[in-house]
Amino acid sequence: MKKIAIALSFVLSLNVFSTLWADEGMWLPFLIGEKTYQEMVKKGLKLTKEQIYSANKSSLKDAVIIFGGGCTGEIVSDKALIFTNHHCGYDAIAKVSTVEHNYLKNGFWAKSLNEEIHVPGLTVQFLERIKDVTDKVNAELKNTDATKTLESLPKILNTIAQSELTEEEKKTNCEARVVSMFSGNQYILFVYKRYKDVRLVGTPSESLGKFGGDTDNWEWPRHTADFSIFRVYADKNGQPADYSPENVPLKPKYVIPVSIKGIKENSYAMTMGFPGGTNRFETSYGVKLKTNIENPYTVGLRDIRLKNMFEEMKKSEAVKLKLASYYARVANYWKFFDGENKQLLKYKVYEQKQKEEQKFIEWAKQNNKTEYINLMSEFDQCYKNWTPYVKAKVYFQEGILGTQLNFYAYRFLSLLNASKDDIVKNKKNYQALIKELNEQIDLPSDKKNASILLKKYREEIDGQFVPTAVYSNISKDISMTGTDQSSLNAYQTFVDNLYQNTILLKPDAFDKWLENPEKSVLENDPAIQLVNAFYQIYSSKIAPEFNKFQNCNFLLQQKYQKGLIEMNKGKKEFYPDANFTMRVSYGVVKPYSPKDAVFYKEVCTLKGVLEKYKPGDYEFDLPKEFIEVAEKKDFGRYVDKSLNDIVVTYITTNDITGGNSGSPVLNGNGELIGLAFDGNYEALSHKIHFDAQYNRTICVDIRYVLWIIEKIGKADNIIKELKIIG
Ligand code: ARG
Repeated sequence: MKKIAIALSFVLSLNVFSTLWADEGMWLPFLIGEKTYQEMVKKGLKLTKEQIYSANKSSLKDAVIIFGGGCTGEIVSDKALIFTNHHCGYDAIAKVSTVEHNYLKNGFWAKSLNEEIHVPGLTVQFLERIKDVTDKVNAELKNTDATKTLESLPKILNTIAQSELTEEEKKTNCEARVVSMFSGNQYILFVYKRYKDVRLVGTPSESLGKFGGDTDNWEWPRHTADFSIFRVYADKNGQPADYSPENVPLKPKYVIPVSIKGIKENSYAMTMGFPGGTNRFETSYGVKLKTNIENPYTVGLRDIRLKNMFEEMKKSEAVKLKLASYYARVANYWKFFDGENKQLLKYKVYEQKQKEEQKFIEWAKQNNKTEYINLMSEFDQCYKNWTPYVKAKVYFQEGILGTQLNFYAYRFLSLLNASKDDIVKNKKNYQALIKELNEQIDLPSDKKNASILLKKYREEIDGQFVPTAVYSNISKDISMTGTDQSSLNAYQTFVDNLYQNTILLKPDAFDKWLENPEKSVLENDPAIQLVNAFYQIYSSKIAPEFNKFQNCNFLLQQKYQKGLIEMNKGKKEFYPDANFTMRVSYGVVKPYSPKDAVFYKEVCTLKGVLEKYKPGDYEFDLPKEFIEVAEKKDFGRYVDKSLNDIVVTYITTNDITGGNSGSPVLNGNGELIGLAFDGNYEALSHKIHFDAQYNRTICVDIRYVLWIIEKIGKADNIIKELKIIG
């Protein structure tokens, strides 16, 4: 195989914010610029670029995987043991748990391969190869109407991606995806191999793995043991296979060794993983839309949903288990969006962006770059056209689709236009969906949410987006011209009836219906009717505007990013926004001061875990055996000698975001020293604006992970599999 050469024109290292903490950047590992690499070396990296990412030989990148739908994991043994975060394994752990065998609550440690638990639906993906396909994509786009660029793009990218797969790759469950970089200035093909037999090997109890809960989420100081352990299985040829007891642990191409030598201030830290998304080139127009409309309304609606769910979760272990994963997902970004808004305002990101934009336009004028001179007024117009629709979009997605029933009903809407044959053909998928809904739904909280959210939509959304027929069914008293004066009671009665009568909550009746699926049953189903009424408005009045907005924003961003790169040629190097492709970030372990007079140390210890302990608390309880071992100070070889304690977590200056969760934190030799699991509250503006002073990545120290495996899980079998250094 030949080494793949990629045009370097858009990928440069970044040196503009060269303050002491200038560790911004989510770098494509196959395109680490020379300046960036020199920075990494200066901070402590001992590896060559080739050892991080090699097209031909095995390298670090072969041990960094996509875990599940949106996380990172790493391979740490030659039997393909995976380390990832507890919050990444959360859904899987909840799924294989029951009230009788509650692994989420009590933890789980397989002592041999045959005790490991297969998790249905859980997959991992290894990055096989990459290729620049910009020219191919542009050749296709040439024949496309510019106003339809974004609409046409998915099909174009997919066709090119599929055409690039080799026969061998097709046979071995490989998937190809072409991804836009710099908003359409570059297109790169990524080929992944997906493994479908993944098993749970170990997890601490939730009280440790999610210690501090939502109170501590997105915060430092932090005392969470946010890790869980899985394993990839393959057929006897090492290829992906559906679950089978015959499958064997995969023999991985690369295994990351584990260092228990520990960290201190200024230790080098490098992460590799799959950050999901950033908008670092966002304009002031986008910031304003986010802070004024998108974030506050999303947070407000999630507030309601979460409160009602939490009330029921507190009452019963079964409900808690049912809602755990869904709740955690909604809560995670509820707190994120709230914090993001606060930080965007605090750091005056809107004003900062405006200044940058002015500078850009001045540069364009001075240099007679006519194509850029009107760019900002074009952005302005693009946002102005879209703004009147944004609140209704948020209320549709976070309000109307913010109940479990409605969300599933929405997924069934396509059946209204499907043929009987098609429905029968896909019977299994629909049965699985209904099963999922009925297993996961908590009726009391879902109904409560449905009534409140319906009422709120009526009260707060412009009449042109309100499905009149729905509301006249609820009560004659709902005025269609003004504020909704009818009582919540009317909504509750309506919702009670709806939940009573929908076939979606009657799995047996639904099964029977599937034998001979008469469309009229769905057409007359109250849940389908309700969601469809809102969807009709969404798809006819809001979605077309949204598509127009996305298209103009994409094209304007393409221009803007191209222009910025041009403007900074020779001065500053750029990385593309995160888009769930593999990235490297580097930094060092570092304390910070969050506000006047306050100083945050760079490490948290076991002592601090015990300090936060609140017996019986929902978020800060601890298992008895944990307290015993901790109080005995039985630290073993995992002790931090200078502190005479276990370091549980630490912070680094690395640049990461959601999707990076579970990423390996590596020292200068490429040895595992921790797992990245969160960002700090003071830098929650990070998707749009990286704050060089405040930004920190929160990592669980690998010594705490091993200490728990050994002392709490008593799983020496796992420890023995690792390549431990130190
Ligand atoms: N904030 C973390 C992330 O997005 C997830 C932490 C999960 N814990 C929780 N308490 N919800 O990666």
